[in-house]
Amino acid sequence: MTENSRPPTLGGARLVLGVTGSIAAYKAVSLLRALVREGATVDVVMTRAATKFITPLTFEVLSGRPVVTGLFEAHQEMRHLSLPEHADAILVAPATANFLAKAALGIADDPLSTMQLTAHCPLICAPAMDGGMWSHPTVKGHVQTLRARGVIVIDPEEGALASGRLGQGRLAEEERILVGVRSALTPRRDWEGQRLLLSAGPTQEPIDPVRYISNRSSGKMGYAIAEAASNRGAQVVLVSGPTSLSPPQGVEVVPVETAEEMAKHMNTRMSWSTVVVMAAAVADFRPKHAAELKLKKRGKPTTTLDLEQTTDILAALSARRTTQVLVGFAAETHDLLTHAKAKLSSKGLDVIVANDVTRPGGGFGSDQNAATLIERDGRITDLPLKSKRELADDILNAAQRWLTPLKKR
Ligand SMILES: Cc1cc2nc3c(=O)[nH]c(=O)nc-3n(C[C@H](O)[C@H](O)[C@H](O)COP(=O)(O)O)c2cc1C
Repeated sequence: MTENSRPPTLGGARLVLGVTGSIAAYKAVSLLRALVREGATVDVVMTRAATKFITPLTFEVLSGRPVVTGLFEAHQEMRHLSLPEHADAILVAPATANFLAKAALGIADDPLSTMQLTAHCPLICAPAMDGGMWSHPTVKGHVQTLRARGVIVIDPEEGALASGRLGQGRLAEEERILVGVRSALTPRRDWEGQRLLLSAGPTQEPIDPVRYISNRSSGKMGYAIAEAASNRGAQVVLVSGPTSLSPPQGVEVVPVETAEEMAKHMNTRMSWSTVVVMAAAVADFRPKHAAELKLKKRGKPTTTLDLEQTTDILAALSARRTTQVLVGFAAETHDLLTHAKAKLSSKGLDVIVANDVTRPGGGFGSDQNAATLIERDGRITDLPLKSKRELADDILNAAQRWLTPLKKR
């Protein structure tokens, strides 16, 4: 193995490993051993619930260090301040729904939740819970809040759960967690100097003051790209249709409603950017005339809507671009590759992200997606179902190929 291909290890790193009351707590033992094997010094902090699943003694022996279990035990006093002060990262694995909620809301009623408030180092959470809990809107909201704050959340995996049911909730495989820790300690800043102009979410085309035509886009893919690019050092402007998402830290958000507004802002910012990603699901049609007053059910019923085409934003940007790398999306329900390849060439894109929105587990509203990346040199990369945040990094990697050196068009 050459020096360059050797995976980075955690030699010299000081970590806090938080273990919470999940049935997967036993997996933290193997994780601790892997972290120590890579050279990290690890202080384990357990919640009271975690100690019901596994004894502190196990972690104490394997880490060679005392384990923190309570805020008020005399000998552990103030360790909620001193440990995070010297830590390079806090890894919570497994992280319960309860811990995610406390971290999102700033509740500090035990050593671990208090530490995550006092720490200035990266926080990495690897949740594990029943599928129903993971997909609960409250848990999703907390995860989103944490991500928007820069917390690295390593999505749980699908498979058989402790309840015997199938679903997403299993603690991520050990290697994925280790990759998360390594990258948190050596953040990639490979997009420094790049200026990303990005669109996300749906557009809303008014029928009257209370009704509109829209689509099922949640904006999650675009917001994940914004977060990934910002983490990697890019300046990001996110022109966003209406979504319920919180903007990622450090990203400038330009809120819009209609395709016309989105087109206007994308056009205005185009010359500033070095990379343009059109992840928004822009309405193709809009009502020709939006009624000024609410259309009434009674009276003169309107049963047909006169539609007209909206501006093709991608085509307009493509026609105006100078050196920008251009990335588009193709959300299709059939003949995915044929449609995506046609769009790649007709819109003059460098990369197209093709995704089959009928595929179970991915598409609109989901936190996960699978996609096929097609690049202008014909390269095709199939990306299996993974979190949109992980997919975002893959999309940036593909766009990056076209950045340096800038290809002649
Ligand atoms: C057998 C058993 C297994 C549990 N597994 C999980 C789990 O995998 N994930 C989770 O979020 N909560 C799980 N819980 C519930 C948590 O233990 C409970 O919410 C607890 O308050 C978490 O406290 P903590 O976050 O301070 O560790 C489980 C409870 C029991 C009794």
